[in-house]
Amino acid sequence: TGQVALGVIPGDGIGPEGTAEALKVLEVAAPSDLKFAQTSYDLGAERYLRTGEVLPDSVLEEIRGQDALLLGAVGGKPNDPNLPPGILERGLLLKLRFELDHYVNLRPSRIYPGSVAPLSDAVLAKGEVDFVVVREGTEGPYTGNGGALRVGTPAEVATEVSVNTAFGVERVIRDAFARAQKRPAKLLTLVHKTNVLVNAGQVWWRLFQEVAAEYPDVTTDYCHIDAVMIYLTTDPQRFDVIVTDNLFGDIVTDLAAAISGGIGLAASGNVNPDRTAPSMFEPVHGSAPDIAGQLIADPTAAILSGALLLDHLGHPEAAARVETAVLADLEAREPGQQRRTPEVGDAIAARVAG
Ligand code: NAD
Ligand code: IPM
Ligand code: MN
Repeated sequence: TGQVALGVIPGDGIGPEGTAEALKVLEVAAPSDLKFAQTSYDLGAERYLRTGEVLPDSVLEEIRGQDALLLGAVGGKPNDPNLPPGILERGLLLKLRFELDHYVNLRPSRIYPGSVAPLSDAVLAKGEVDFVVVREGTEGPYTGNGGALRVGTPAEVATEVSVNTAFGVERVIRDAFARAQKRPAKLLTLVHKTNVLVNAGQVWWRLFQEVAAEYPDVTTDYCHIDAVMIYLTTDPQRFDVIVTDNLFGDIVTDLAAAISGGIGLAASGNVNPDRTAPSMFEPVHGSAPDIAGQLIADPTAAILSGALLLDHLGHPEAAARVETAVLADLEAREPGQQRRTPEVGDAIAARVAG
Protein backbone atom coordinates (compact mmCIF):
# COMPACT_ATOMS: atom_id res chain seq x y z
CA THR A 1 0.00 0.00 0.00
CA GLY A 2 1.14 3.51 -0.74
CA GLN A 3 3.92 4.43 -3.07
CA VAL A 4 6.04 1.76 -4.70
CA ALA A 5 9.36 2.64 -6.34
CA LEU A 6 9.29 0.60 -9.52
CA GLY A 7 12.46 0.26 -11.57
CA VAL A 8 11.82 -0.59 -15.22
CA ILE A 9 14.50 -2.10 -17.45
CA PRO A 10 12.87 -2.40 -20.88
CA GLY A 11 16.07 -3.73 -22.48
CA ASP A 12 16.37 -4.91 -26.06
CA GLY A 13 14.32 -6.21 -28.96
CA ILE A 14 10.79 -7.11 -27.92
CA GLY A 15 11.67 -6.28 -24.27
CA PRO A 16 10.38 -2.69 -24.44
CA GLU A 17 7.36 -3.80 -26.50
CA GLY A 18 6.26 -6.17 -23.73
CA THR A 19 7.05 -3.93 -20.75
CA ALA A 20 4.97 -1.10 -22.24
CA GLU A 21 1.93 -3.40 -22.18
CA ALA A 22 2.76 -4.79 -18.73
CA LEU A 23 2.90 -1.23 -17.34
CA LYS A 24 -0.42 -0.41 -19.00
CA VAL A 25 -2.04 -3.36 -17.25
CA LEU A 26 -0.27 -2.70 -13.92
CA GLU A 27 -1.71 0.83 -13.84
CA VAL A 28 -5.29 -0.39 -14.16
CA ALA A 29 -4.85 -3.46 -11.96
CA ALA A 30 -3.26 -1.74 -8.98
CA PRO A 31 -5.57 -0.91 -6.10
CA SER A 32 -6.38 2.81 -5.95
CA ASP A 33 -4.15 3.34 -2.91
CA LEU A 34 -1.13 1.85 -4.70
CA LYS A 35 0.91 4.25 -6.79
CA PHE A 36 3.95 3.33 -8.84
CA ALA A 37 6.79 5.82 -8.96
CA GLN A 38 8.59 4.63 -12.07
CA THR A 39 12.23 4.99 -12.95
CA SER A 40 13.29 3.66 -16.33
CA TYR A 41 16.86 2.44 -16.82
CA ASP A 42 18.52 2.63 -20.20
CA LEU A 43 20.45 -0.65 -20.16
CA GLY A 44 21.04 -3.26 -22.82
CA ALA A 45 22.63 -3.75 -26.21
CA GLU A 46 21.98 -0.26 -27.49
CA ARG A 47 23.68 1.41 -24.52
CA TYR A 48 26.57 -1.01 -24.70
CA LEU A 49 27.11 -0.38 -28.42
CA ARG A 50 26.83 3.37 -27.86
CA THR A 51 28.97 3.75 -24.72
CA GLY A 52 30.64 0.44 -23.91
CA GLU A 53 28.79 0.38 -20.58
CA VAL A 54 26.84 -2.69 -19.46
CA LEU A 55 25.80 -1.92 -15.87
CA PRO A 56 27.67 0.96 -14.23
CA ASP A 57 28.08 0.55 -10.45
CA SER A 58 26.18 3.76 -9.78
CA VAL A 59 23.18 2.46 -11.75
CA LEU A 60 23.29 -0.86 -9.90
CA GLU A 61 23.20 1.03 -6.60
CA GLU A 62 20.19 3.07 -7.76
CA ILE A 63 18.43 -0.12 -8.84
CA ARG A 64 19.16 -1.65 -5.45
CA GLY A 65 17.12 1.13 -3.86
CA GLN A 66 13.92 0.31 -5.78
CA ASP A 67 11.04 -1.67 -4.25
CA ALA A 68 10.58 -3.93 -7.28
CA LEU A 69 11.85 -4.28 -10.83
CA LEU A 70 10.23 -5.06 -14.16
CA LEU A 71 12.55 -6.26 -16.90
CA GLY A 72 11.77 -6.82 -20.58
CA ALA A 73 14.63 -8.80 -22.06
CA VAL A 74 18.26 -8.23 -22.86
CA GLY A 75 20.36 -9.48 -25.75
CA GLY A 76 21.33 -8.04 -29.10
CA LYS A 77 21.31 -9.41 -32.60
CA PRO A 78 22.93 -12.85 -32.87
CA ASN A 79 26.61 -12.87 -33.84
CA ASP A 80 26.95 -9.09 -33.88
CA PRO A 81 30.75 -8.66 -34.15
CA ASN A 82 30.56 -5.62 -31.84
CA LEU A 83 28.71 -7.54 -29.11
CA PRO A 84 30.85 -10.22 -27.44
CA PRO A 85 28.77 -13.32 -26.61
CA GLY A 86 27.31 -13.24 -23.12
CA ILE A 87 28.38 -9.69 -22.34
CA LEU A 88 24.82 -8.53 -21.63
CA GLU A 89 23.54 -11.85 -20.35
CA ARG A 90 26.37 -12.16 -17.83
CA GLY A 91 27.17 -8.51 -17.22
CA LEU A 92 23.60 -7.27 -16.90
CA LEU A 93 20.94 -9.93 -16.39
CA LEU A 94 22.90 -12.44 -14.32
CA LYS A 95 24.71 -9.66 -12.50
CA LEU A 96 21.35 -8.28 -11.36
CA ARG A 97 20.15 -11.74 -10.29
CA PHE A 98 23.36 -12.38 -8.34
CA GLU A 99 23.82 -8.91 -6.84
CA LEU A 100 20.19 -8.69 -5.75
CA ASP A 101 20.32 -12.25 -4.40
CA HIS A 102 17.46 -13.59 -6.51
CA TYR A 103 17.90 -17.11 -5.29
CA VAL A 104 14.36 -18.16 -6.15
CA ASN A 105 13.60 -17.99 -9.85
CA LEU A 106 9.88 -18.68 -9.88
CA ARG A 107 8.38 -19.93 -13.13
CA PRO A 108 4.74 -21.00 -13.04
CA SER A 109 3.14 -23.00 -15.87
CA ARG A 110 -0.54 -23.61 -16.51
CA ILE A 111 -2.35 -24.85 -19.52
CA TYR A 112 -5.14 -22.29 -19.77
CA PRO A 113 -8.31 -23.32 -21.50
CA GLY A 114 -8.23 -21.69 -24.91
CA SER A 115 -4.46 -21.48 -25.19
CA VAL A 116 -2.85 -23.28 -28.08
CA ALA A 117 -1.19 -26.18 -26.31
CA PRO A 118 0.79 -28.53 -28.52
CA LEU A 119 0.15 -31.63 -26.40
CA SER A 120 -2.15 -34.31 -27.74
CA ASP A 121 -5.78 -34.46 -26.64
CA ALA A 122 -5.05 -37.77 -24.93
CA VAL A 123 -2.41 -36.12 -22.73
CA LEU A 124 -4.56 -33.05 -22.03
CA ALA A 125 -7.53 -35.27 -21.11
CA LYS A 126 -5.63 -36.60 -18.09
CA GLY A 127 -6.43 -33.43 -16.18
CA GLU A 128 -5.44 -29.91 -15.32
CA VAL A 129 -1.82 -28.85 -15.79
CA ASP A 130 -0.69 -26.37 -13.16
CA PHE A 131 2.83 -26.50 -11.79
CA VAL A 132 5.58 -24.13 -10.76
CA VAL A 133 9.30 -24.48 -11.19
CA VAL A 134 11.46 -23.12 -8.38
CA ARG A 135 14.73 -22.64 -10.20
CA GLU A 136 17.81 -21.84 -8.13
CA GLY A 137 19.01 -18.44 -9.32
CA THR A 138 22.45 -17.68 -7.94
CA GLU A 139 24.62 -20.78 -8.30
CA GLY A 140 25.12 -23.86 -10.48
CA PRO A 141 27.02 -23.55 -13.75
CA TYR A 142 25.99 -19.87 -14.00
CA THR A 143 28.58 -18.44 -11.61
CA GLY A 144 31.34 -18.03 -14.16
CA ASN A 145 33.52 -20.52 -12.32
CA GLY A 146 35.48 -21.79 -15.28
CA GLY A 147 38.15 -20.97 -17.72
CA ALA A 148 39.84 -21.82 -20.96
CA LEU A 149 43.38 -22.96 -21.64
CA ARG A 150 45.33 -23.06 -24.89
CA VAL A 151 42.40 -21.51 -26.74
CA GLY A 152 42.31 -22.24 -30.44
CA THR A 153 44.80 -25.10 -30.26
CA PRO A 154 44.05 -28.82 -30.47
CA ALA A 155 44.99 -28.96 -26.77
CA GLU A 156 42.27 -26.51 -25.77
CA VAL A 157 40.47 -27.19 -22.49
CA ALA A 158 37.36 -25.32 -21.36
CA THR A 159 35.55 -25.74 -18.04
CA GLU A 160 32.34 -24.35 -16.53
CA VAL A 161 32.27 -25.70 -13.01
CA SER A 162 28.88 -25.93 -11.30
CA VAL A 163 28.88 -24.32 -7.87
CA ASN A 164 26.55 -25.87 -5.29
CA THR A 165 26.88 -24.60 -1.73
CA ALA A 166 25.00 -26.16 1.17
CA PHE A 167 23.80 -22.65 2.05
CA GLY A 168 22.53 -21.95 -1.46
CA VAL A 169 20.94 -25.34 -2.03
CA GLU A 170 19.25 -25.49 1.36
CA ARG A 171 17.66 -22.06 1.10
CA VAL A 172 16.04 -22.70 -2.27
CA ILE A 173 14.85 -26.15 -1.17
CA ARG A 174 13.30 -24.58 1.95
CA ASP A 175 11.51 -22.01 -0.19
CA ALA A 176 10.17 -24.75 -2.47
CA PHE A 177 8.84 -26.81 0.46
CA ALA A 178 7.09 -23.75 1.89
CA ARG A 179 5.49 -23.07 -1.50
CA ALA A 180 4.46 -26.70 -1.98
CA GLN A 181 2.84 -26.75 1.46
CA LYS A 182 0.55 -23.85 0.45
CA ARG A 183 -0.73 -25.61 -2.69
CA PRO A 184 -3.63 -28.07 -2.80
CA ALA A 185 -1.57 -31.01 -4.09
CA LYS A 186 1.37 -30.41 -1.69
CA LEU A 187 3.77 -32.31 -3.95
CA LEU A 188 7.41 -31.34 -4.42
CA THR A 189 9.64 -32.97 -7.03
CA LEU A 190 13.40 -32.60 -6.92
CA VAL A 191 14.84 -32.57 -10.44
CA HIS A 192 18.53 -33.28 -10.92
CA LYS A 193 20.91 -35.74 -12.50
CA THR A 194 22.16 -37.45 -9.37
CA ASN A 195 23.11 -40.57 -11.32
CA VAL A 196 25.91 -38.71 -13.12
CA LEU A 197 26.52 -35.39 -11.36
CA VAL A 198 27.16 -37.24 -8.12
CA ASN A 199 28.92 -34.48 -6.21
CA ALA A 200 26.30 -31.80 -6.76
CA GLY A 201 23.60 -34.48 -6.71
CA GLN A 202 24.63 -35.60 -3.27
CA VAL A 203 24.23 -32.18 -1.68
CA TRP A 204 20.84 -31.61 -3.38
CA TRP A 205 19.56 -35.07 -2.44
CA ARG A 206 20.75 -34.94 1.17
CA LEU A 207 19.40 -31.46 1.87
CA PHE A 208 16.12 -32.33 0.13
CA GLN A 209 15.70 -35.32 2.48
CA GLU A 210 16.66 -33.26 5.54
CA VAL A 211 14.21 -30.45 4.85
CA ALA A 212 11.49 -32.95 3.86
CA ALA A 213 11.57 -34.29 7.41
CA GLU A 214 10.30 -30.88 8.57
CA TYR A 215 7.38 -30.97 6.11
CA PRO A 216 5.64 -34.31 6.76
CA ASP A 217 2.50 -33.08 4.95
CA VAL A 218 4.39 -32.44 1.69
CA THR A 219 4.72 -35.47 -0.60
CA THR A 220 8.13 -35.71 -2.25
CA ASP A 221 9.30 -37.17 -5.51
CA TYR A 222 12.51 -37.23 -7.51
CA CYS A 223 13.11 -37.26 -11.30
CA HIS A 224 16.23 -37.13 -13.38
CA ILE A 225 16.21 -34.11 -15.70
CA ASP A 226 16.20 -36.18 -18.87
CA ALA A 227 13.13 -38.13 -17.74
CA VAL A 228 11.39 -34.84 -16.97
CA MET A 229 11.52 -34.11 -20.72
CA ILE A 230 9.49 -37.30 -21.22
CA TYR A 231 7.00 -36.64 -18.44
CA LEU A 232 6.39 -33.01 -19.39
CA THR A 233 5.26 -34.10 -22.82
CA THR A 234 3.38 -37.26 -21.83
CA ASP A 235 2.18 -36.70 -18.26
CA PRO A 236 2.65 -33.07 -17.14
CA GLN A 237 -0.11 -33.55 -14.55
CA ARG A 238 2.38 -35.42 -12.37
CA PHE A 239 4.07 -32.15 -11.38
CA ASP A 240 3.02 -29.62 -8.76
CA VAL A 241 6.17 -27.86 -7.53
CA ILE A 242 9.57 -28.65 -9.04
CA VAL A 243 12.81 -27.57 -7.39
CA THR A 244 15.98 -27.71 -9.42
CA ASP A 245 19.32 -26.10 -10.12
CA ASN A 246 19.96 -23.03 -12.25
CA LEU A 247 20.74 -24.69 -15.60
CA PHE A 248 18.23 -27.54 -15.39
CA GLY A 249 15.66 -24.92 -14.38
CA ASP A 250 16.50 -22.77 -17.39
CA ILE A 251 16.00 -25.65 -19.79
CA VAL A 252 12.95 -27.20 -18.19
CA THR A 253 11.08 -23.88 -18.10
CA ASP A 254 11.42 -23.29 -21.85
CA LEU A 255 9.84 -26.70 -22.40
CA ALA A 256 7.22 -25.92 -19.77
CA ALA A 257 6.43 -22.70 -21.64
CA ALA A 258 6.18 -24.47 -24.98
CA ILE A 259 3.77 -27.14 -23.73
CA SER A 260 1.55 -24.67 -21.96
CA GLY A 261 0.71 -22.44 -24.90
CA GLY A 262 3.98 -20.92 -25.97
CA ILE A 263 6.90 -18.83 -24.82
CA GLY A 264 4.74 -15.73 -25.28
CA LEU A 265 2.76 -16.68 -22.18
CA ALA A 266 5.51 -17.67 -19.72
CA ALA A 267 6.11 -15.32 -16.79
CA SER A 268 8.78 -15.36 -14.13
CA GLY A 269 9.90 -13.74 -10.94
CA ASN A 270 13.48 -13.48 -9.75
CA VAL A 271 12.64 -13.40 -6.11
CA ASN A 272 14.70 -12.37 -3.11
CA PRO A 273 12.57 -14.03 -0.43
CA ASP A 274 14.46 -12.31 2.40
CA ARG A 275 13.63 -8.92 0.84
CA THR A 276 17.16 -7.61 1.30
CA ALA A 277 16.96 -6.24 -2.27
CA PRO A 278 14.22 -5.71 -4.86
CA SER A 279 12.84 -8.73 -6.69
CA MET A 280 12.72 -8.59 -10.47
CA PHE A 281 9.89 -9.77 -12.71
CA GLU A 282 10.39 -10.65 -16.35
CA PRO A 283 9.04 -12.88 -19.09
CA VAL A 284 10.88 -16.17 -19.57
CA HIS A 285 11.56 -15.31 -23.22
CA GLY A 286 14.43 -13.24 -24.59
CA SER A 287 14.71 -10.22 -26.85
CA ALA A 288 13.55 -12.20 -29.93
CA PRO A 289 15.61 -10.27 -32.50
CA ASP A 290 13.84 -12.25 -35.23
CA ILE A 291 10.52 -10.47 -34.60
CA ALA A 292 11.64 -7.27 -32.82
CA GLY A 293 10.27 -3.98 -34.11
CA GLN A 294 7.29 -5.52 -35.86
CA LEU A 295 4.94 -5.25 -32.86
CA ILE A 296 3.82 -8.85 -33.26
CA ALA A 297 5.31 -10.21 -30.00
CA ASP A 298 2.83 -11.55 -27.50
CA PRO A 299 3.02 -9.28 -24.42
CA THR A 300 1.10 -11.76 -22.25
CA ALA A 301 4.27 -13.13 -20.64
CA ALA A 302 5.30 -9.61 -19.62
CA ILE A 303 1.77 -8.85 -18.39
CA LEU A 304 1.65 -12.03 -16.29
CA SER A 305 5.08 -11.13 -14.90
CA GLY A 306 3.43 -7.92 -13.75
CA ALA A 307 0.84 -10.06 -11.95
CA LEU A 308 3.63 -11.90 -10.13
CA LEU A 309 5.03 -8.49 -9.15
CA LEU A 310 1.67 -7.42 -7.71
CA ASP A 311 1.45 -10.65 -5.75
CA HIS A 312 4.97 -10.17 -4.42
CA LEU A 313 4.10 -6.64 -3.29
CA GLY A 314 1.21 -8.03 -1.24
CA HIS A 315 -1.66 -7.52 -3.68
CA PRO A 316 -2.85 -11.03 -4.52
CA GLU A 317 -6.36 -9.79 -5.48
CA ALA A 318 -4.91 -7.40 -8.05
CA ALA A 319 -2.68 -10.19 -9.36
CA ALA A 320 -5.70 -12.48 -9.66
CA ARG A 321 -7.60 -9.80 -11.62
CA VAL A 322 -4.77 -9.74 -14.17
CA GLU A 323 -4.73 -13.54 -14.41
CA THR A 324 -8.49 -13.68 -14.86
CA ALA A 325 -8.30 -11.05 -17.60
CA VAL A 326 -5.54 -12.98 -19.38
CA LEU A 327 -7.57 -16.16 -19.13
CA ALA A 328 -10.58 -14.45 -20.69
CA ASP A 329 -8.40 -12.93 -23.40
CA LEU A 330 -6.94 -16.36 -24.22
CA GLU A 331 -10.38 -17.89 -24.43
CA ALA A 332 -11.49 -15.15 -26.80
CA ARG A 333 -8.50 -15.59 -29.12
CA GLU A 334 -9.44 -16.93 -32.52
CA PRO A 335 -7.12 -19.36 -34.27
CA GLY A 336 -5.03 -17.61 -36.86
CA GLN A 337 -5.95 -14.16 -35.52
CA GLN A 338 -2.92 -11.87 -35.58
CA ARG A 339 -3.24 -8.96 -33.16
CA ARG A 340 -0.54 -6.39 -32.70
CA THR A 341 1.30 -6.21 -29.39
CA PRO A 342 -0.50 -3.05 -28.13
CA GLU A 343 -3.88 -4.47 -29.13
CA VAL A 344 -3.32 -7.45 -26.85
CA GLY A 345 -2.24 -5.12 -24.03
CA ASP A 346 -5.27 -2.87 -24.56
CA ALA A 347 -7.64 -5.84 -24.61
CA ILE A 348 -6.27 -7.26 -21.35
CA ALA A 349 -6.17 -3.82 -19.69
CA ALA A 350 -9.79 -3.25 -20.70
CA ARG A 351 -10.83 -6.57 -19.15
CA VAL A 352 -8.98 -5.72 -15.93
CA ALA A 353 -10.64 -2.30 -15.80
CA GLY A 354 -13.89 -3.68 -16.76
P1 NAD B 1 14.00 -15.82 -27.42
O1 NAD B 1 13.15 -16.21 -26.28
O2 NAD B 1 14.34 -14.39 -27.54
O3 NAD B 1 13.32 -16.30 -28.78
C1 NAD B 1 13.06 -17.68 -29.07
C2 NAD B 1 11.91 -17.78 -30.08
O4 NAD B 1 10.67 -17.45 -29.43
C3 NAD B 1 12.05 -16.81 -31.25
O5 NAD B 1 11.60 -17.43 -32.41
C4 NAD B 1 11.12 -15.66 -30.88
O6 NAD B 1 10.58 -14.97 -31.98
C5 NAD B 1 10.03 -16.38 -30.09
N1 NAD B 1 9.44 -15.51 -29.07
C6 NAD B 1 10.02 -15.14 -27.90
N2 NAD B 1 9.20 -14.35 -27.20
C7 NAD B 1 8.08 -14.21 -27.91
C8 NAD B 1 6.84 -13.49 -27.71
N3 NAD B 1 6.62 -12.75 -26.60
N4 NAD B 1 5.89 -13.56 -28.66
C9 NAD B 1 6.10 -14.30 -29.76
N5 NAD B 1 7.23 -15.00 -30.02
C10 NAD B 1 8.21 -14.96 -29.10
O7 NAD B 1 15.35 -16.69 -27.30
P2 NAD B 1 16.70 -16.64 -28.16
O8 NAD B 1 16.38 -16.36 -29.59
O9 NAD B 1 17.42 -17.86 -27.78
O10 NAD B 1 17.52 -15.41 -27.57
C11 NAD B 1 17.53 -14.10 -28.12
C12 NAD B 1 18.34 -13.19 -27.20
O11 NAD B 1 17.67 -13.02 -25.96
C13 NAD B 1 19.72 -13.75 -26.84
O12 NAD B 1 20.62 -12.67 -26.79
C14 NAD B 1 19.51 -14.34 -25.47
O13 NAD B 1 20.70 -14.39 -24.72
C15 NAD B 1 18.54 -13.36 -24.88
N6 NAD B 1 17.70 -13.88 -23.81
C16 NAD B 1 17.41 -12.99 -22.80
C17 NAD B 1 16.55 -13.35 -21.81
C18 NAD B 1 16.22 -12.36 -20.75
O14 NAD B 1 16.55 -11.20 -20.86
N7 NAD B 1 15.58 -12.74 -19.68
C19 NAD B 1 15.94 -14.62 -21.82
C20 NAD B 1 16.24 -15.51 -22.87
C21 NAD B 1 17.12 -15.11 -23.87
C1 IPM C 1 16.38 -16.97 -18.99
C2 IPM C 1 17.52 -16.74 -19.97
C3 IPM C 1 18.79 -16.42 -19.21
C4 IPM C 1 19.14 -17.64 -18.35
C5 IPM C 1 20.00 -16.01 -20.06
C6 IPM C 1 19.67 -14.95 -21.07
C7 IPM C 1 21.15 -15.57 -19.20
O1 IPM C 1 17.67 -17.83 -20.82
O2 IPM C 1 16.05 -16.05 -18.24
O3 IPM C 1 15.82 -18.06 -19.00
O4 IPM C 1 19.79 -18.57 -18.84
O5 IPM C 1 18.75 -17.64 -17.19
MN1 MN D 1 16.13 -19.37 -20.53
